[in-house]
Amino acid sequence: MTEALSPAAPAASRVLSGVQPSGALHLGNYLGALVKFVALQDRMQCLYCVVDLHAITAWQDPAALAAQTREIAAAYIAAGVDPAKAIIFPQSAVREHAELAWIFNCVARLGWLDRMTQFKEKSGQHKERSSVGLYTYPVLQAADILVYKATHVPVGEDQKQHLELTRDIAQKFNNDFGAPGFFPLTEPVIEGPGARIMSLRDGSAKMSKSDPSDNSRVNLLDSADTIAQKIRKAKTDPEPLPETLDELKLRPEADNLVGVYAALSGISKAQALSQFAGQGFGAFKPALADLTVARVGPIGDEMRRLLGDPAEIDRVLQAGVEKARAVAGPVVAETKRLVGFWTPPTR
Ligand code: AMP
Ligand code: TRP
Repeated sequence: MTEALSPAAPAASRVLSGVQPSGALHLGNYLGALVKFVALQDRMQCLYCVVDLHAITAWQDPAALAAQTREIAAAYIAAGVDPAKAIIFPQSAVREHAELAWIFNCVARLGWLDRMTQFKEKSGQHKERSSVGLYTYPVLQAADILVYKATHVPVGEDQKQHLELTRDIAQKFNNDFGAPGFFPLTEPVIEGPGARIMSLRDGSAKMSKSDPSDNSRVNLLDSADTIAQKIRKAKTDPEPLPETLDELKLRPEADNLVGVYAALSGISKAQALSQFAGQGFGAFKPALADLTVARVGPIGDEMRRLLGDPAEIDRVLQAGVEKARAVAGPVVAETKRLVGFWTPPTR
């Protein structure tokens, strides 16, 4: 854990993160993001949104989007985010995100966005057919974070570049408008073995909801049998597990499975290796399958239970919207004042 996560974190610390309602969540989302959401909620004020404005940068079926949003909220709660401690809400219901994003669109430079690797990956061969929203996606992400002046953002490693951009936008805004320290320079919370979980079929590809092979990932809603089977079928090599991390690094699939074991157990990869060094996958995989079923199975069950009562999820989301707006409203008002916009006379 970094200094950022120590109990001595400053009182003004605030956490913001989000997940897109654009498909079923998997073990990578759980270990890269949700586990950290839960760990932070006792130490800092936390806001966790379902980023539906981001989701529509690619086509989303209007008839399904609200249900997908509830599903992500259910995943947060089932993973252990407590609505009594953390603020859970849908991004689009807090209009301050979009308002600040526009101002940030005028702060961020084209050259900065041109460097974003996620846009290049997502737009693929046909950049000109991507939505303009996909291009400015990271600017909206910066607004999500800074509209709460969040100091810490728990995410997987793939979000590192977006968080660097967030800092650049904060810094340029503060400079341009003569407001040193107005927006904080946010710290990513990325470290740990869960930050980059790879496909179960290919140790060089990220575990992803868009991978056409369902066997490449463990979904949070998979049954216990399916989870165990996917782990048993995971690609490996014939060698026993090595003694050292250096040797493990040369074997991407083995490295990934040891990383999953470590992340699920809350230990380091080195500690996981010390338990299994010299043993083959015949011994390691059943232990990993049992552990994954024990951790992920109950989350899926709890998600199904929560989704059986959408009205309860809606109450959580509505309460979250109100709390989030109470924080975001004054920040946007002050931002508009700094930019020099006309404001209504106060009486
Ligand atoms: P997304 O599903 O892309 O909206 O991602 C939601 C969160 O999960 C973000 O914090 C991502 O960085 C994280 N994440 C997605 N895929 C992985 C992965 N394979 N390993 C670790 N974290 C991931
Ligand atoms: N871009 C993030 C992802 O794909 C989702 C996201 C949107 C986010 N806004 C955010 C994450 C703000 C952290 C903070 O995973």
